[in-house]
Amino acid sequence: MNVVVTGGAGFIGANLCRELALRPSVGEVVALDDLSTGSAANLADTDVELVEGSILDRDLLDSVVARADTVVHLAARPSVPRSLADPFASHEVNATGTMRVLEACRRGNTHLVAASSSSVYGSVTDLPKHEGLPTRPLSPYAASKVATESYVLAHHSAFGLPALVFRFFNVYGPLQQAGHAYAAVVPSFVDAALRGQPLTVFGDGYQVRDFTYVGTVVRVLADAVDRRVTCASPVNLAFGTRISVLELAHHLAKTLELAIEVRHEAPRNGEVRASQADDGLLRSLFTGIRPVPLEQGLAETVRWFRSLMAYA
Ligand SMILES: NC(=O)c1ccc[n+]([C@@H]2O[C@H](COP(=O)([O-])OP(=O)(O)OC[C@H]3O[C@@H](n4cnc5c(N)ncnc54)[C@H](O)[C@@H]3O)[C@@H](O)[C@H]2O)c1
Repeated sequence: MNVVVTGGAGFIGANLCRELALRPSVGEVVALDDLSTGSAANLADTDVELVEGSILDRDLLDSVVARADTVVHLAARPSVPRSLADPFASHEVNATGTMRVLEACRRGNTHLVAASSSSVYGSVTDLPKHEGLPTRPLSPYAASKVATESYVLAHHSAFGLPALVFRFFNVYGPLQQAGHAYAAVVPSFVDAALRGQPLTVFGDGYQVRDFTYVGTVVRVLADAVDRRVTCASPVNLAFGTRISVLELAHHLAKTLELAIEVRHEAPRNGEVRASQADDGLLRSLFTGIRPVPLEQGLAETVRWFRSLMAYA
C-alpha cells in the first residue's frame, strides 16, 4: 500500500510519515509539502520521498495522488492568529486546497483521511464536545476547517469517496516548532522554560484544553490508513482530558524540575474558552487504543527539545 501525506514535512505530518515508514503493510510514503511551515529536516534519515510543491498546483497534485492507495491530507495554514492576520490565505489553502485534494482523490476513488480541528465547535459551550453538536466557528481558521470537513463529508456522501475526517484537539510532541509568533502553547512553554524565561499566558490561564500526544495521534492515523476506515461523521481525535493552561505550566515545571514564572498577556481574539473531546465515536472505531498520558508525552517532548542545538 502506498500513502501520500500532504503537509508531510510538518509537525504531525512528519511524525506520521515516520510511523508509516516503519509499517510492513506500507510500501511507498510520499510527503507533498510546500515547506511554508514544515521543514525537509523533519524527514531526514527516512525513506520518505519529499515532493516539494503546493496542493494548489493541480497537475502536481494529480501526479502525486495517482501513486497513492490512501491520501492523508494534513496540509493547511494552521493557527487561529495566523488566520486573523490573513483570512484569505487560510481560506485558500484550507478550503480551496482541500477541494483540490478531494478532486484528485475522486478521480481514482482514493481513500482519504483528512484533518479538521476542534476549533470548529467554537462558541458552543457544552463539554465534552461530541460530534453531534453544531459548529460555531470563532475565527477564519475555524471556518476554513468547517469547509474542509464539510467538503470531505459531502464527497463521501455524494460520490461515495471512501473518506474519514478527524477533528484534532491540541496535539503536542517532538518536531513541533517554537520560536515563532504562531507557535502552539506546549512548544512555546517548553522553549521559554528551557531558556529560563517566563511563560506567556494569554488571559487568565483557566482556559482548558484537551492535549493529545502526537505519538497517539499518528498511531490512530496509521491504523485508519491500514484498515481503510471511513465514517459519515467527523471523528474527534482526543481522549477527554481537561487541563487548564496554568495546570500545563505546573506539569511542565514538574517535568523539568525547574521553578517556572508565568507572565499574563491579554486574551487572544478568536480563541475557544474550553475544549474537551467526547471520545466515544473514536473509541468505537479504534478499539483498544491507549493514549500516551500527559506526563509521559511532556517528558518525551522535553527530551526532544533538549536534543536540539539551541538548548545545548
Ligand atoms: N497541531 C494541532 O494541535 C492541530 C490541531 C487541530 C488541527 N490541526 C491540523 O492538523 C494538520 C497538521 O497541522 P500541524 O500542527 O502538523 O501543522 P504544520 O504547520 O506543522 O503542518 C502543516 C504542513 O502543511 C504544509 N503546507 C501548508 N500549505 C501547504 C500547501 N499549500 N501545499 C502543501 N503543503 C502545505 C506546511 O509546510 C506544513 O508542513 C493541519 O491541517 C492543522 O490544521 C492541528
